Amino acid sequence: MTALVVLPDPAALATAAAERVGAIAEAAVAERGRFTVALSGGATPRGLFETLAAPPWRDRLPWARFEVAWVDERDVPIDHPDSNARMACRAWLEHVPVPPDRIHPVPTRPGPPADAARAYEATLRALFPYEPWPRFDLVLLGVGEDGHTASLFPGSSALEDAEAWVVAPWVPHLEAYRFSLSLPAIAHARRLIGLVAGASKAPVMRAVLEAPGSEPLPARRVAEAHGHAEWLLDAAAASALSGRSRA
Ligand code: 6PG
Repeated sequence: MTALVVLPDPAALATAAAERVGAIAEAAVAERGRFTVALSGGATPRGLFETLAAPPWRDRLPWARFEVAWVDERDVPIDHPDSNARMACRAWLEHVPVPPDRIHPVPTRPGPPADAARAYEATLRALFPYEPWPRFDLVLLGVGEDGHTASLFPGSSALEDAEAWVVAPWVPHLEAYRFSLSLPAIAHARRLIGLVAGASKAPVMRAVLEAPGSEPLPARRVAEAHGHAEWLLDAAAASALSGRSRA
């Protein structure tokens, strides 16, 4: 069952997302002594990150019990402007006391992408020992205009990998490698929340939520594999929905 919540604007979306992150984090720490979260990149989550870096969340959450990883990463050094980890650290993690050894960026350098993917998978397997799949308390996703999520792009063979926790696909239209949690690794999250904002995402969100067509898009496939995804959209991103899929 996929839940949809529509917020009036990006600021309200960030607030609603922060409320969910806060609630999930506090519950996870209470139940299991830690909160494991995997972050997507791109532009959309910046508002959420900045909200979590400010009061009340900055002063309220059990930061020492966080374990932060990434859903996906670009094949760039961590100090590169395109780095998802750099954005999250500058917008959020440098402003809260999460212990540095509990922040797990993809080790994109110095080795080749395949080695980096294996190293990152080893990091995740150490976070979730004895588990057949990573059981993040929360995975945060975005959606691209083409329906990709994480770095799982339409038509990519990486979508079919049923074994790896981490994949490193070559993305032809980007002419670059990407690092990504695999579809099953994402689908085993305890909670899965997608954040989508802006009118440019209205067509793709209609396809993802209402009109899958013959070849479901990666964002729909991931949500369906999980089974209980929650989509938080601003009104602009939801503007092409019929209302049937609204919560
Ligand atoms: C990335 C992301 C990617 C992102 C979507 C949406 O590395 O780019 O993880 O999956 O979530 O492309 O990006 P925007 O939020 O910038 O629209």
